[in-house]
Amino acid sequence: MHTRSGNNTVFRRIKVACPLELRFADDFVGKTGEQDSPCKYIGMNCLSYVSKTKNRTVAGTRSMTTFNKSEPKHYLAGKVAIVTGASSGIGEALAMALAAEGVRVTLASRRISHLEDIYTRITDTGGEALICPTDVTSIDETRRMAELTLRTFGKIDILVNNAGVMLLSFIDKLKIDEWMRMVDVNIKGVMLCTAAVLPSMLENERGDIVNISSIAGSNVSPSSTVYSATKAAVDAFSEGLRQELSPATCIRIINVKPGAVTTELTGHITDPDVFKMWEKHPLTQFLSAEDVACSIVHALDQPPHVSTNVLTVRPTRQRL
Ligand SMILES: NC(=O)c1ccc[n+]([C@@H]2O[C@H](COP(=O)([O-])OP(=O)(O)OC[C@H]3O[C@@H](n4cnc5c(N)ncnc54)[C@H](OP(=O)(O)O)[C@@H]3O)[C@@H](O)[C@H]2O)c1
Repeated sequence: MHTRSGNNTVFRRIKVACPLELRFADDFVGKTGEQDSPCKYIGMNCLSYVSKTKNRTVAGTRSMTTFNKSEPKHYLAGKVAIVTGASSGIGEALAMALAAEGVRVTLASRRISHLEDIYTRITDTGGEALICPTDVTSIDETRRMAELTLRTFGKIDILVNNAGVMLLSFIDKLKIDEWMRMVDVNIKGVMLCTAAVLPSMLENERGDIVNISSIAGSNVSPSSTVYSATKAAVDAFSEGLRQELSPATCIRIINVKPGAVTTELTGHITDPDVFKMWEKHPLTQFLSAEDVACSIVHALDQPPHVSTNVLTVRPTRQRL
């Protein structure tokens, strides 16, 4: 059957062995094995195709989402994720959001009572979770986190390196202990957790590593000097992981750079001058942790060949 669209492109309607009706421009003369079927359904949202256009033959894949945006996606259901820093804020919201998509979630952080509460909320709604008390600065505890997840759920599909601290202070206060804590949690923690899951992901040649960086990694401001330095390190680590792992495997790296989000993060700041500075220049809009979680779920819920490498999520009114 042929139809003519508004811009005079002729489309052929093709029924294939999948629940969708597809439309291709008339110059799309595809063949993939079966003579009668011009395209081959190779996944929930993907087609393999051979296209002959003006004597040129192009082979490859194209996303079916172009043709039917309302088709539900199911890339996440049945996967296994580890979320560090799952006891509050973005980690908590993401653990809940992933569980709602049918992902089995290992909840990893130090405050066990918080993890128990989240575990109960997940399992009460039919989800599956595992509590794994973990300090991400400990090599033994991060290894145990990965081992326990493998023993309980049999695989690790997703690691979310979310645990972090933001101990903002002006540099002349020389709060060296706080600088080192940020380096330990924000940089070493990300590296140790990544090292703990990589052997399993490399063996399976697939997986997703989500690193929660910050826009502060690119935008340095007074009092964020060390915090920004730790997040810039996360940006670099993410890009290096992507270059070394993604081309040879199906391991995807998602570096997330949120703007201002309402969480407990600022509650640990000890320099009063930071709060005085904010009183003079208050932000007018914040994201919720659920807003950020929703964006990450969207980035993860894509076909294997689609890799969102950097995800910046700001409140619309945030300038920098
Ligand atoms: N809120 C924002 O505006 C914003 C903006 C950009 C980026 N981020 C990033 O988002 C991530 C999550 O922060 P959040 O805003 O959701 O703040 P949050 O509510 O304070 O969450 C921080 C999480 O990190 C965990 N954590 C801290 N030290 C840890 C350690 N040594 N081992 C294991 N877990 C540890 C905490 O859990 P326990 O205390 O139970 O261990 C907590 O669950 C951080 O990486 C942060 O830098 C936040």
